[in-house]
This record gives sequence, C-alpha cells and structure tokens, in this order.
Amino acid sequence: MIKKNGTVYRLDTPNTTLVLQADTAQMLYYGPRLPAGDSFAPLARLGRRFFSAPGREDYAEYSLLAEYADGSFASDPVFVRAKVLSEKPALPDLPSSYGEGKTLELHYTDRVSRLHLYITYSVFGGCDAIAVSARVVNGAKKPLRLRRLMSLQCDFPGTEYEIVTFHGAWLQERQKTQRRIGRGVFVNDSKCGSSSHARNPFLLLKGEGQVYGFNLVYSGNHKEIVECCENERTRVLAGINDFQFDWTLAPGESFYAPEAVLCCAPTEDALSARMHAFVAEHIVRGKWKKRERPVLFNNWEGTYFGFDAEKIDAMAQTAARLGAELFVLDDGWFGHREDDTSSLGDWYDNVQKTGGGLAALADRVRAHGLAFGIWIEPEMISEDSDLYRTRPNFAMKIPGREPYRWRNQLMLNLAEERVQNFVVRSVSDVIVRSGASYVKWDYNRCMTDCYGKGVAGGEYFHRYMLGLYRVLQRLQKRFPSVLFEGCASGGGRFDLGMLCYFPQIWTSDDTDARERISIQAGTSYAYPQSTMGAHISACPNHQTGNSNLLSVRFNVSCGGVLGYELDPCALSAQEQEEIAEQIAFYKANRKLLQFGQQYRLEGRGVAGYIALSKDASSAIAAVHVLQGSLTEPPVTVRLKGLNASALYEVRVRGKEETFTATGALLMRADIPLPLEDPVKSARENGGSFRSVMLLLKRIRG
Ligand code: GLA
Repeated sequence: MIKKNGTVYRLDTPNTTLVLQADTAQMLYYGPRLPAGDSFAPLARLGRRFFSAPGREDYAEYSLLAEYADGSFASDPVFVRAKVLSEKPALPDLPSSYGEGKTLELHYTDRVSRLHLYITYSVFGGCDAIAVSARVVNGAKKPLRLRRLMSLQCDFPGTEYEIVTFHGAWLQERQKTQRRIGRGVFVNDSKCGSSSHARNPFLLLKGEGQVYGFNLVYSGNHKEIVECCENERTRVLAGINDFQFDWTLAPGESFYAPEAVLCCAPTEDALSARMHAFVAEHIVRGKWKKRERPVLFNNWEGTYFGFDAEKIDAMAQTAARLGAELFVLDDGWFGHREDDTSSLGDWYDNVQKTGGGLAALADRVRAHGLAFGIWIEPEMISEDSDLYRTRPNFAMKIPGREPYRWRNQLMLNLAEERVQNFVVRSVSDVIVRSGASYVKWDYNRCMTDCYGKGVAGGEYFHRYMLGLYRVLQRLQKRFPSVLFEGCASGGGRFDLGMLCYFPQIWTSDDTDARERISIQAGTSYAYPQSTMGAHISACPNHQTGNSNLLSVRFNVSCGGVLGYELDPCALSAQEQEEIAEQIAFYKANRKLLQFGQQYRLEGRGVAGYIALSKDASSAIAAVHVLQGSLTEPPVTVRLKGLNASALYEVRVRGKEETFTATGALLMRADIPLPLEDPVKSARENGGSFRSVMLLLKRIRG
C-alpha cells in the first residue's frame, strides 16, 4: 500500500493513488489509481506542495505560521527523513481514525528555529480515504508561538474548480451549496467553539472528472481555505481555525493538529460511498459499530417540560405496545427544571416529576419491556442552580464582564481539570443511578465568554475541546455498552470528532419531513445514514406548522435511524396501528436501511434515497415528490447502485402491484412513479407532499 522509490512515496488505496515527493514536500499526484511503473519525475515541475510557511516565494495561504522568540515569522522546514510505520500512531488527547494500515511519517526541520514538523499520511486496507495529520515540536531553547497549523494542504493544478460546502443554520443544517471560486480566497469556517450548524467542516472540490473530499476529525473551530493562487494552482487547506488561536510551545513541547481526511472519487455518489465506508469502519467504534440501532420514542415534543411519572409511564406503555425498543426521557427530569431558565448542572432527580426518582421511573419504563434512555446537557450551567451557587467559578465567564446568556444558560469551563472531573462524575452518576443504556448528550449554546483562569486566551477554544474529548474518552471507557447520541440543538456538532464517541447524532431540531429531506441529503454527503437520528414527530409540525401524512414522514425517517418524537397516547387508534406497522416493517428491514449502501436520488421535482444490500440483491428506495399541479408531467425517477444485468421485482410499499425490470432499465430509464393525482392528493392530504417507497428484490441474474 505504501511503496518507496528514492524519496518518492506512492500510497495506494483500492481505487486511488497519492504520490508524495518527500525531499521537496511535493504532492506529485492524487487521483484515480495508477498502474505500477511510473517514476512521476515530470510532475515535480508543477511545484504542488503539501505544506507551506512564510519566508519563501510562496505568498498563498500558509499551512504553518510560527512566531519565534526573536519576533520573526519565517520558517523553512527542510526534509530530514521519512518512515513507513506499520501501526497508525494515535493522536494524544484527540479523536482520530483507527484500523489496520500503514502510515508514512515525514519529518522536516527548520534549521534556524529548530522547529520540527511531522506530517503523516495513513492508508487502510480496503478503504479509499486517507488520514492526514501534522505535528510541530519546538526543538529550540526558547518558547515559540504557533499561530496556525493546518492539518492538511493539497495543491491542485489549474483553477477550474467548483467548491461544495454544507452551509446552514439551526433548523436548516448542511444545505448543499456549490459555487466556482474564480480568483481569490474562499473560506469555510466556524468561530463559535463547535463545528457549528452554519458550516460543516466537510468540503468538496470538484474538478474535471474527479471530486475531492476533505473533512476533519474535530468538533471545535475549524477553517477550510481554498485559494486560487497566482501561479494557476488551487490550494486547499483544512484544520483548526486560527481565529483567536495563539499557542505557546515551550522547549520540547509538541502541538498536534486534529486529523484530516482526504478522499477522491469520479462522482459525488462514489465519494459519499467511500466516505460512508470510512466512517463506518474507521471512525465509529465500540459495541455499536455496525450494530442495529434501537427504535426509540422520545418525549420532548410530546410533553416538553410538562410531564410527570404517570405521563411518562403511559407514553412508555403505549410506545412498547407499538413496538418501540427504547424510551428516552428528555429535558426536565432534574433539579427544579420547569423551563429552560434553571437547573443545568444540578443532575440530581426532581423527585416530584420523576415520581420518586430517576431509578424508580426508569424501572417503570423497563417494566414495559423497553430500554431506558436519558437526556443530559453536561457542558452547561444555569445561574439558577445549586452548582452555580456553590461553584460559580465552574462557569465560563470573563472576570468583570457580564456573560452573554444564550437559552438562559452559561457554559462550563471544560478547559479546567476539576470541571472535567465534575462532568465525568455527574454523567456517570446519572447512568449508574438510572441504569440508562442510551444517553442523549445535548449542547444548546455556542461559546462567547471564553476564559479560564490560567489558560491563555489564544489557547482557550482548543483547550476546551481537549477537555471535552478527555471527558468523552473516560465515559466511553467506563460505559462501553451505552449508546451515546450526540445533539447540539440538533445538528450543531455533526462531525467526525463527535462520531468517534457518539455512534449517532440528532441530525436537526427540525422534524418537518419536507425540510428534513435536504438536511438529511446534505448530511449524507459525508456521513452514513446509521449516524443520523431521524424521528417522526406530530403534525402540524412544531417547527414549521406544516402537516404531512404519517406514511410520508416515515419514508423520510427511514433515511436515517428511525425514532418517534411525539406523545403516542395522543394518537388515534388508526395512527397507532399505522405506527405499529411502520416499526414492524423497519425492524424487518433495519439492517438494510441503517447499514446498506445509501445513495441520494435526485431528479426533476423529486428527491430521496435508495439503500442497497451489499450484493445489491435487495434494496429500498424512497422517492419524495416535492411539486405537483394539474399540469404535472409524469413524475419519474432513476435508481442507483443496482446490478445492471439482474432482474428485479419492484413493489410499491402499501400497494399490491408489482412490476419487473432489469437493474439497467431502472438505473438508465426514467421510471414513472405510481402516484395519485396531485390536486386530489393535496386536497385530501392537507398539503402533504407525496412520497413512495419502492421495495426491490432480485429475482434473477
Ligand atoms: C435541544 C435538543 C432537543 C431537546 C431540547 C431539550 O433543543 O435539540 O431535541 O432535547 O434541547 O431542551
């Protein structure tokens, strides 16, 4: 997988090749896999480098910026040596990918400042993503200040590229946005302390015939820069954001940049498939890796803060009857929390609301045959809490400055060790006390008042993340069987860093099925469907006021990990019956829906997905029809991922009719969808959009 020829190193994955010239720090080639035998010598003239620093002719954005004790900034790291390691080194205190493979470690030194730069590239057997990391060691006798260390730099020839990012906001996360940069510098970043609702760290660069994907195994401030350089070259940088970043390295100390991930493929679909395989195999870990996820009921949208033990018991009983496997008690069970103004940090039971305590209520839920799950927001503190009254210094605040309140709450100063210990203790107590087998880990505000006694301001954001990762690592070790679901007001921290600890993440607080289509599709560019919590909620939808048929909501939620976010007792007998049937269907097809190869389906007025078994012998497709009028042309779809020469039987879920067609026809022809008359449907279904689920079985070939 890694071959050496002089100072040229060739890294092969099953479908791609990366060629690096170690002594001149050049990326000679990155693209589709090449046959053996090339020397790559002619490519050296392109001058595409995989790191850069000021002090040479290169004035494009740098990957490394260090300020030395004498006040100078120039660095000129020269090649020292290259090593091929048979084990992938872990990054201390940071999450990173794992698995069998080979790592190329390249070492450079700036002879004047004695700064050492190590860059590693890891390839895994059977996987097309490459993990890249960078580390700086201060070899001088005086401290240096690191102002920027990007995890990855890739220079591409030419400037004719499109960039795709996944922008958004709360309730509108990861909307695919594509543009040409033209000349200049494009930045995709986050400065709010988390990877953010607004800009996911995942980015695509689309060139002729090839799509390159970049991501970070990091959950804090990130920055991706794409620069069309003056010498007809396009540079991509990805790493920790240098906003408010200024890290002092004492003599002998190291700084590890978060791991970056690099991937390329001929199409967006192929790139997503490669990213999905990488996440499933090399990011998600522990007991829940590739394990079917339970169907849950969560009480949040069903009750908000207004519940008692009787209500929860009744909801759990009904949920169990409908086929649920897990009941999640959301916000409001602790301290004196009746609304969002109090009690964060007081993770002891509200005896009244829980009918005698969490343990008793969890037992009542379990008595119905369900597992018990619990919501907690461990990184936060309410000013109206015993914790704040006794330990005001645990809060993230700047002395002498009124803190900015967001959802009426402050954050804990996780950069400090005793606060980390407090969080580990409180979460552990809640899990032990309730016997919870699932934890929804929420995070409902961003950072504003970044300050910790003894922590340099320029180090704060990253020290917070290191503190958080330390906490998560300890909890993962102590509770290896517990399924943690990440949440940050929905999808505000949906990234590879969190996925190293949380096998799934609540994709968005927006549960409107129509809105969820683009949120889930955008998320699916980088992350597999088994990582996406996708719940059905009540109608009219609480975020948008829209209503959609239960069957339509189901078709959308089957694109991720199915759950229900409503009061099952408030449903009619007919709705309950329909949900019981949905859950039975989901369980029977869960392996395929959660872990099959999923592709996005797009077309004129339609969107959706198809999930296929490994050998493409069975598949489930959901096609959502977003428009409809009297003049509607036939609505059609082209499927993906099927075996072209096989014959499939296609059935429409909920209908008797079937038809047969070859995989080739289903993928190449526009197949008309069996839809109801659009106007009649709109009238009868209160404006719900139409959606069909197709069940495919290979019957020959
Ligand atoms: C956040 C979450 C919701 C819910 C509430 C509880 O908004 O995203 O799912 O848990 O907090 O306060």
